[in-house]
This record gives sequence, structure tokens and C-alpha cells, in this order.
Amino acid sequence: MILVFLGAPGAGKGTQAKKLAQDMNLKHISTGDMLREEIKKETSLGKRAKEYMDRGELVPDELIIAMIEQALPKDSGIVLDGFPRTVAQAQALDEMLKKHHKKVSCALLFDVEDEVIVERLSGRRVCPKCGAIYHIKYSPPKVDNVCDVCSTTLIQRDDDKEEVVRKRLKVYKEQTAPVIEFYAQKNKLKTIKATGSIEDIYNILKNALSNEC
Ligand code: AP5
Repeated sequence: MILVFLGAPGAGKGTQAKKLAQDMNLKHISTGDMLREEIKKETSLGKRAKEYMDRGELVPDELIIAMIEQALPKDSGIVLDGFPRTVAQAQALDEMLKKHHKKVSCALLFDVEDEVIVERLSGRRVCPKCGAIYHIKYSPPKVDNVCDVCSTTLIQRDDDKEEVVRKRLKVYKEQTAPVIEFYAQKNKLKTIKATGSIEDIYNILKNALSNEC
């Protein structure tokens, strides 16, 4: 099964993708996590990507496509989280999968209103070591500001500052909307109303996967 998770920043893609990947033994590929790893290692890709990410803009397609091409597993199911984000990326993904006689099974759009997004992102805390995601109100760690999984001190992402969040939302509406249309035209798009508890949304997701993908 090859799943594409679409949705605005803060829609809950990463939270649901991590749970699903663990549950269904799928490989979770998040381009955002991969880029943050490159930044941490101070690679040339990381340095170039950081300039765009700090401004809330998309990293150029050719860098993202080259990075995914290397990371895409040949033999396992995949949850793609945050990729593709442009039509050029969606077309490149189809080409890459075609080489392995595979196709996207389903694109799931996590649909959330803008006000919810701003609240989710301002309260998000992440573990810089293992990538676990928390929210100070909706999914707090057991000990304040400490990761439940690896005991590392949690951080706030640089791009979760309000002005960058607004820019990311604008970029999403301008550049990622055509990707939603791309999958709708192929009859592969499923929309999930992504407000409510993390558990409730997960159950809706599992239902959509068993009935429609
Ligand atoms: P990326 O890391 O992919 O960020 P994003 O898509 O903007 O998504 P987020 O990680 O912000 O949100 P999410 O939907 O995963 O939400 P989460 O589960 O964390 O990309 C960052 C940057 O990298 C981009 O701006 C771009 O520059 C670059 N980039 C990445 N991919 C690229 C690509 N393909 N092409 C070009 N550039 C690319 O949840 C958010 C918060 O809400 C958390 O605190 C969580 O605990 C909480 N929460 C989740 N669900 C619920 C719920 N149901 N109720 C209450 N709280 C909830």
C-alpha cells in the first residue's frame, strides 16, 4: 500500500502517519523530517533547504525529488507525509513508482480550518532526537517538556512562529491545492475531516483505508 498524506501545515499528518506506520508496518517518509535531519547534519542540501524553510516557502522541486528518489523503499508499503506538494513532485512520484511497477493507492486529505491550525502549531513541541510530536494541551508529554520515548528536552520548531505559519498556509493554498486536484482527477482522493481527538481521527482514517483504498 502506498499512501500520500495531504493537508495544511499542522493538519495532523505527521501525528497520524507515525501511528499508522507503526500499526500497519509501513515505512513513514516525511520530507520535512528528512530536511530537518539534513539541516542538523549541516549538509549542503540542509543549508540550501534551511533558507526556504525559515521563510515558510517550499524547497525547490529538483532537490526534493532527488532526495525522495534515494529514500523510496522498493519492497515495503509507504506513508508519504508532506510529499508530493507540487504537481511536478506528484508526476515525478508516479514515474518513480512506475519503475517498480507500483502506483499510489490513495491520497488522504486531512481537512482542518485555519484557526485550528494556528492553535495546533503554536502549541506543538517536538523531540529533536527521535521526532516524537506533542502538543502542550492536546497530547502533552508525561513530564513537562521531556520526550516520553527518549527523555530528550523538547523544542519548538523555528517555522512554528506565527508569521512563518501564515506564510506556510498561503504557500499551501497556492501551491498544494493543484496536487489535491491531481489526485481527485485520478479518483484517488479521500477527504478526512481532521478535527476532533487524535484517536477519533485515527479511527476515521483506518475506516477510510479499509473501505475505500
Ligand atoms: P513539514 O515538516 O512537512 O511541515 P508541514 O506540512 O507544514 O506539516 P507540519 O509538520 O507542520 O504539520 P502536520 O500536518 O504533520 O501536523 P502534526 O501532526 O505535527 O515541512 C516543513 C517545511 O519543509 C515546509 O514548509 C517546506 O519548506 C519544506 N518541505 C517539506 N516537504 C516539502 C516538499 N515536499 N516540497 C517542498 N518543500 C518541502 O500536528 C501539529 C500539532 O497538532 C502537534 O502539536 C500535534 O500534537 C497536534 N495535533 C495533531 N492532531 C491533533 C488533534 N486531532 N487534536 C489536537 N491536536 C492535534
